[in-house]
Amino acid sequence: MASFQRLPLLLAVIASLCAAAVGQDGKPVLPFAPSCSTTDNYTDGSQYMKNLDQLLAGLPVAAAFNGWFYNGTSGAPGTPDQVFGLTMCYADRNAKECQECLAGAAAGIKSMCPGSRNVRAAYDACVLRYSPTPSFSIADLDVAFYVNLAGTAIDPERMRNAWLPLMTDLAGRAASSPSRVANATTPYDAASLVYGLAQCTRDLNATECSRCLSSLVGQLRTRFTNETGGAVKAYSCYVRYQLGAFDVTLPPEPLW
Ligand SMILES: *[C@@H]1O[C@H](CO)[C@@H](O)[C@H](O)[C@H]1NC(C)=O
Ligand SMILES: *[C@@H]1O[C@H](CO)[C@@H](O)[C@H](O)[C@H]1NC(C)=O
Ligand SMILES: *[C@@H]1O[C@H](CO)[C@@H](O)[C@H](O)[C@H]1NC(C)=O
Ligand SMILES: *[C@@H]1O[C@H](CO)[C@@H](O)[C@H](O)[C@H]1NC(C)=O
Ligand SMILES: *[C@@H]1O[C@H](CO)[C@@H](O)[C@H](O)[C@H]1NC(C)=O
Repeated sequence: MASFQRLPLLLAVIASLCAAAVGQDGKPVLPFAPSCSTTDNYTDGSQYMKNLDQLLAGLPVAAAFNGWFYNGTSGAPGTPDQVFGLTMCYADRNAKECQECLAGAAAGIKSMCPGSRNVRAAYDACVLRYSPTPSFSIADLDVAFYVNLAGTAIDPERMRNAWLPLMTDLAGRAASSPSRVANATTPYDAASLVYGLAQCTRDLNATECSRCLSSLVGQLRTRFTNETGGAVKAYSCYVRYQLGAFDVTLPPEPLW
C-alpha cells in the first residue's frame, strides 16, 4: 500500500481521472447523530485544518482504490497538528451509494461539527473518523445508531433461534477473513430465510474485529426482540440481520 505521505502526489495524478467515478464534487452527505469533540477546537486557517482538509480530500479516492476502506494520516509526524483519519463503506450499500457517501461525508460532518478535532460519524452508507491521535487497530465499541426493520410479524423465539447462531457464526467468519466481511443466510421456516451481514474496519486484527462484532451482536440481542430485522452501526464494525433478502456488495480487491 502506498504510504500516505506520498499519496497526495499520487492523488494529484489520478484525481482528475477518477473525479467523476468517485464523485469528488459530491453533495454534502449528513451523518446521523455524530460524535464531535467540543473543546480544543481548531480555528480557520490553522495547521490542523490544513492537514485535515488535505486528508479528507484524499480519502474518497484512496478508499475507492483500496476496497472501500482507508486509514491514513496527514501532517508532520509527531506534531500536535498531525491528523489521522479512517473511512469505510458498509457492505449493504452498493458502489454508487458508497461513492456518494465517501465524496460527501467530509462536507457533511464539517457543516455539522465545524472546528471539532475529534470526530466519529456514521452515515447511511459509510463511516468517517478523524482525530489528532491514532486510534487505529483498537475496536471502538460505541454505537452510532440502530436501525429497526419492522414489517412482517414474526415469531420472536423462532426468529432469535435463526439469527443469533447466524450472527455469531458471521462474527467469527468476518474476523478471520482478510476483507473483514461475511454474509450468509439461515432458514427461518420452510419458506423463508434470514440474511445476515457482519463487517469490521480493516485496521482491526482478527481479535479486535471479533471483540467488536461480539459486542454488537450482544446489542442486537437486547435491542431487537420482536423485529423483522435489525442493524447496529458502529464506528469500527457493523452487523445486520433481516427476514428476507437485502443486497450485499462485497468490497473490491484493493488496487495497491
Ligand atoms: C492503518 O491501520 C493499520 C492497522 O492498524 C496501521 O498499522 C497503520 O499504521 C495505519 N495507517 C496509518 C497511515 O496510520
Ligand atoms: C467546538 O466546535 C463544536 C462544533 O464542531 C461546537 O459544538 C462547540 O461549541 C465548539 N466549542 C467551542 C469551545 O467553541
Ligand atoms: C490485535 O490488536 C490489538 C490492538 O492493537 C493488540 O493489542 C493485539 O495484541 C493484537 N493481537 C494479535 C494477535 O496480533
Ligand atoms: C410482536 O409484534 C407483533 C406485531 O408485529 C405484536 O402483535 C406482538 O404482540 C409482539 N410480541 C411481543 C412478545 O411483544
Ligand atoms: C454474499 O453476498 C454476495 C454479494 O452480494 C453474494 O454473491 C453471495 O451469494 C452472498 N452469500 C451468501 C451466503 O448469501
